[in-house]
Amino acid sequence: MKLPPREAAISIRGLRKSFGGQPVYSGFDLDVRRGDILAVFGPNGCGKSTLINMAAGLLPKDGGEILYDEREVQDVRVGYVFQNYREALFPWRRAAENIRYPLRLMGLKRAEIEARVEKLAAQFRVRFDLNRYPYELSGGQQQLVSIMRALAVQPEVLFLDEPFSALDYETTLSLRSLLQDVLKEMRVTTVLVSHDLEESIVLADRLLMLRRRPTSVADDVPVPLAWPRDAATLSAPDFIAIKARCLDVFQQAVAA
Ligand SMILES: Nc1ncnc2c1ncn2[C@@H]1O[C@H](COP(=O)(O)OP(=O)(O)OP(=O)(O)O)[C@@H](O)[C@H]1O
Ligand SMILES: [Mg+2]
Repeated sequence: MKLPPREAAISIRGLRKSFGGQPVYSGFDLDVRRGDILAVFGPNGCGKSTLINMAAGLLPKDGGEILYDEREVQDVRVGYVFQNYREALFPWRRAAENIRYPLRLMGLKRAEIEARVEKLAAQFRVRFDLNRYPYELSGGQQQLVSIMRALAVQPEVLFLDEPFSALDYETTLSLRSLLQDVLKEMRVTTVLVSHDLEESIVLADRLLMLRRRPTSVADDVPVPLAWPRDAATLSAPDFIAIKARCLDVFQQAVAA
């Protein structure tokens, strides 16, 4: 099986999408650099999920192009983590089976599948039994399993739709920290949707602030903070300066 060895760059040009005659995107452009983590921040209904669903090939676009190093999405290995972990996992499959499932579809050998599951379990420091069913796991554990499933295919690009929004603060902090380590180690190009500004800054190389209808970019903010980022990052002067800039844009351009 031929597997391109590296993360993909994303190029979006002239993207168009309407629902019931109401445009959400009308001529939207975006480039995401290879290996970057892009956070997409914006108010409810501005089109964040619509954007990544089109990019991931889950929702048809009306026009324009979304290319990954010149390739269409169907020729790209994509990982996707849904907002609602309760509906994301197959409830009738054990956690480990959920993670193995896309690898079986890819036709990987059993030894390779087990090696990948074990490696991910070590990277994410999994301490619960992966032979349990999703209903036997906490919300944080289920979301961790969905993230592991998305990464198991060794995606060239990973989409996460508000992956921590249903989790408590402690679980969110711990998952965020594990995720950033793994993403930086695997070097996967990532688009993370969030409506938590602090989270968007902490996890991103670059933050895109969107405003509504038709969706446009209110600000495009580089986040050159050192990795790894931890609790101390949240009170570092550089972090506070970026957050202040974003809050300012938010008040001027997004909430207005
Ligand atoms: N299947 C659909 N049918 C009709 N309208 C839709 C559909 N999906 C999205 N929309 C509309 O498109 C707009 C963008 O929706 P989208 O779900 O992308 O927003 P979002 O930024 O992800 O919001 P949230 O923060 O609430 O998740 C909204 O006005 C929404 O009502
Ligand atoms: Mg959404």
